[in-house]
Amino acid sequence: MGSEILWFLAVLALITAGESKKSVGGTCHPNDLKGLRSFKAGIHSDDSGRINKWIGNSCCEWDGISCNNITGRVTQINLPGFITTDDAPLQAYMYGSISPSITLLSNLEVVDLSGLVGLTGKIPSSIGFHLPGLRKLSLWGNHIEGPLPESIGKLSKLEELCLNENSLSGFLPANLGNLKALRRLDLHSNRFSGAIPESIAKLTSLESLSLQNNLLTGDIPGKIGDLQALKELDLSNNSLTGKIPSSITKLKAVSIIYLNDNQLVGEIPTFLGPDQMPCLGFLRLNNNRLTGRIPYSFGHLSSLQRVSLANNELEGPIPSSLGDLRSLTELYLNGNKLSGRLPSSTSLLSQLIMLTLSNNMIEGPLPHQMASLRNLQMLDLSFNRLNLSTIPKWLLKLPSLSRIYLADCKIQGELPEDLRATPSALQELDLSANHLSGKIPEWIGSLTELYSLNLSVNFLAGEIPSSVTKLASLGVLDLHSNKLSGSLQRVFQVESRFTTGRSLASLDLSDNNFTSGIEQIGMGSQLEIQHINLSHNFIEGRLPDSIGRLETMKSLDLSCNNLDSALPPLLANASSLETLKLRKNHFTGKIPSEFLKLRKLKELDLSDNFLEGKIPFGRPLINFPRGSYSGNKGLWCTSGSL
Ligand SMILES: *[C@@H]1O[C@H](CO)[C@@H](O)[C@H](O)[C@H]1NC(C)=O
Ligand SMILES: *[C@@H]1O[C@H](CO)[C@@H](O)[C@H](O)[C@H]1NC(C)=O
Ligand SMILES: *[C@@H]1O[C@H](CO)[C@@H](O)[C@H](O)[C@H]1NC(C)=O
Ligand SMILES: *[C@@H]1O[C@H](CO)[C@@H](O)[C@H](O)[C@H]1NC(C)=O
Ligand SMILES: *[C@@H]1O[C@H](CO)[C@@H](O)[C@H](O)[C@H]1NC(C)=O
Ligand SMILES: *[C@@H]1O[C@H](CO)[C@@H](O)[C@H](O)[C@H]1NC(C)=O
Ligand SMILES: *[C@@H]1O[C@H](CO)[C@@H](O)[C@H](O)[C@H]1NC(C)=O
Repeated sequence: MGSEILWFLAVLALITAGESKKSVGGTCHPNDLKGLRSFKAGIHSDDSGRINKWIGNSCCEWDGISCNNITGRVTQINLPGFITTDDAPLQAYMYGSISPSITLLSNLEVVDLSGLVGLTGKIPSSIGFHLPGLRKLSLWGNHIEGPLPESIGKLSKLEELCLNENSLSGFLPANLGNLKALRRLDLHSNRFSGAIPESIAKLTSLESLSLQNNLLTGDIPGKIGDLQALKELDLSNNSLTGKIPSSITKLKAVSIIYLNDNQLVGEIPTFLGPDQMPCLGFLRLNNNRLTGRIPYSFGHLSSLQRVSLANNELEGPIPSSLGDLRSLTELYLNGNKLSGRLPSSTSLLSQLIMLTLSNNMIEGPLPHQMASLRNLQMLDLSFNRLNLSTIPKWLLKLPSLSRIYLADCKIQGELPEDLRATPSALQELDLSANHLSGKIPEWIGSLTELYSLNLSVNFLAGEIPSSVTKLASLGVLDLHSNKLSGSLQRVFQVESRFTTGRSLASLDLSDNNFTSGIEQIGMGSQLEIQHINLSHNFIEGRLPDSIGRLETMKSLDLSCNNLDSALPPLLANASSLETLKLRKNHFTGKIPSEFLKLRKLKELDLSDNFLEGKIPFGRPLINFPRGSYSGNKGLWCTSGSL
C-alpha cells in the first residue's frame, strides 16, 4: 500500500506540473491561505498524505493546488480520490467535512474532490457569490448533504457540475437554467425531489444530463428537445409522470436516452424521418406505463443498438419496420401486451444477440426466416400464445444460441435429442410449463456447459438420470412440479459432485414423487448452495446433522414430506438461514435451544409435526407468530401453552 501511495503522488505531480508554479514561490494571498487552512482543519484523515504536507505559506507549491502564474491566486484544488492510469486505478480516501471557508478562495476555477468517499458537509450556500470563476465543481462519490444552493445559478462560467453519488436533497433550483456554459450536469444517485425545472431546457451547451436514481416527480420538461448539444440523457429510476415529450425526438446529437423505471404514461412519440435522431444507440423506456403501439416510425432509429421497452402496457403487433434497425444487438420487449405474429423482418436483424419477448400475447408460428440470426445468443419467448408443439428445428441450429427460454410454449413429447447437438453449447435452458413427458434422458449429462436447467411444471416421470453428475457447470436446477420419483439419496450424491465445478446455488425438486431419505444432504465438500426446496414429496427418515454444513444456505423448505425423528441441533450451524419450512412432517421431540443461533431467520414454519416441550426463549424464535408452531403435540412458551 505504501509504495502505491508514493507512486500515486508521483502521478499527481506529473498531472499538476502542467500548471506553472514558477513566479509564485512566495507567500500566498491571505484569503487563499486562510481558506486552505480551514479546509485542512476540517479533514481529519487523508490516507494519501497529501494534505499533511500543506505546511508554510507557499500554498501554490502544495500538493493538489495550482495558482495563476500572474496573479498568484489559487485557481485549482485537485485532490480526486480516484486516478485511472494505464497501469492500475488508485483509490485514496479522505474523511472530514468540507469547510465553508473554501469560498475565501475567490479565484477558484476548478474544485475536484471527487471519489474520496468520506467527505461530508454541505455545498456552501453562498458559493455562487464568491466563486464567480468556477468552471468545474466535482464532488461526486462522497457523503455531501443538504440542498443544491440557489446561488449556483450565478456561476456563469461553470462547465462541469458533478455531485453524483452523495446524499444531497431538496428541490433542483430553477436558476440552474442560467448556467449557459454547462456541458455536464451529473446529480445522479442523490435524494433530490420535486420536479425537474423547465429552465433546464435553456442549457444549450449541455452534453450530458444525469439525474437518475433520485426521487424526482412531475413531468419531463416539454422543451427538453431544445438541448441541441445533448449526447446523453439519463432520467431513469425516479418517479417521473406524464408523457414523453415529443420534442425529445429533436435531440439531434443524443446517443443515449434512459427514461426507464419511472411512471411515464401515454404513447411512444413518433420519429419523423431516418435523420431525426441519427446517433441514438441506446434507448431504455422499460418499467413505465407506456401504452399504445410501438410506432411504425420506430424503424427510423437506424443507429439503435440496445433497446428496452419491457414492462409497459404496449399492445398491438410488433411493427415489421423493426427489421430496419440493422445495428440492433439487444431487444427487450418482454412484459407487454404485444400480439400478432413475430414479423418475418426480425430475421434482418443480423447483429442481434439478445431477443426477449416473454410475457406478451405473441402467436405462432415463428417465422422460419429467423434461422438467419447468426449472432443470436439468447432467445426468450416464454409465456406468450405460441403453440409450438415442438421446438423448431431451425432454432436449435442457430449457430450462436446458447440461452433458450421457451416456457409455456405448449411443447409436447420427450425432451428433443437435438438439444444435445446445438452448434453452441447450451448454458441456459428453460422449457418449464410445457407438456413434456417421458423421462429426463441420460444424454442430459453431455450438456457440460449448462448453468441453469428449468424443466419445472411438466409431466416428466421416472428417476433423475445418473449422468447429471457430469453437469459440472450447473448452478440452478429447477425440476419442481413433475412426476419424478426414486431415491433422493442419489440426487444428493449428485449434488455433492456438482460442487467440484461451479457450485450449485439453487435446487428445487419440490412437488414430485421422490421417496427415501436425504441422509447425504450436506455431504459435499464445499457446498455453496443458497436455496433448497424439496417440499411436497414423500421423503422419509431423519434430517441428518450434515445439514448444518450448508453454511451459505438461505432457504430450506422440506414441508409436506414424511420426515421423522428429532430436529438436529446442528441445523443451527447453517447460520445464513433466512427461511426454514418444515411444516407437515413427523418430527418429534423438542425444538433445540441451538436454534436461537439462527439470527438471520425471518420465516419459520414448524407447524403440523409432533414437536413438544418449551419453545426456547429468545430471538429469533419469539418473533414468529403462533401459526409457526401450531398443530404440534404440545409446544409451549413461557407465557403459556400454544
Ligand atoms: C502562465 O499560465 C498561462 C496559462 O496557464 C500559460 O499559457 C503561460 O505560459 C504561463 N506563463 C508562464 C511564464 O509560465
Ligand atoms: C433507484 O434509486 C434509489 C434511490 O432513489 C436507489 O436506492 C436504488 O438502488 C436505485 N435502483 C437502481 C436499480 O439503480
Ligand atoms: C396447439 O396445437 C395443437 C396441435 O397443432 C392443437 O391440437 C391445439 O388445439 C393447439 N392449441 C391451442 C391452444 O391453440
Ligand atoms: C422455472 O420456471 C418456472 C415456471 O416457468 C418459474 O416459476 C420458476 O421461477 C423458474 N425457476 C427458476 C429458478 O428460475
Ligand atoms: C417450495 O416449493 C413449493 C411447491 O413447489 C412452493 O409452494 C413453496 O413456496 C416453495 N418454498 C419456497 C421457500 O420457495
Ligand atoms: C407417487 O408415489 C405414490 C406413493 O409412492 C404412488 O402411489 C403414486 O402412484 C406415485 N405417482 C406417480 C405419478 O408416480
Ligand atoms: C458447528 O459449529 C461449531 C461452531 O459454531 C463448530 O465448532 C462445529 O464443528 C460445527 N459442526 C459441524 C458438524 O459443522
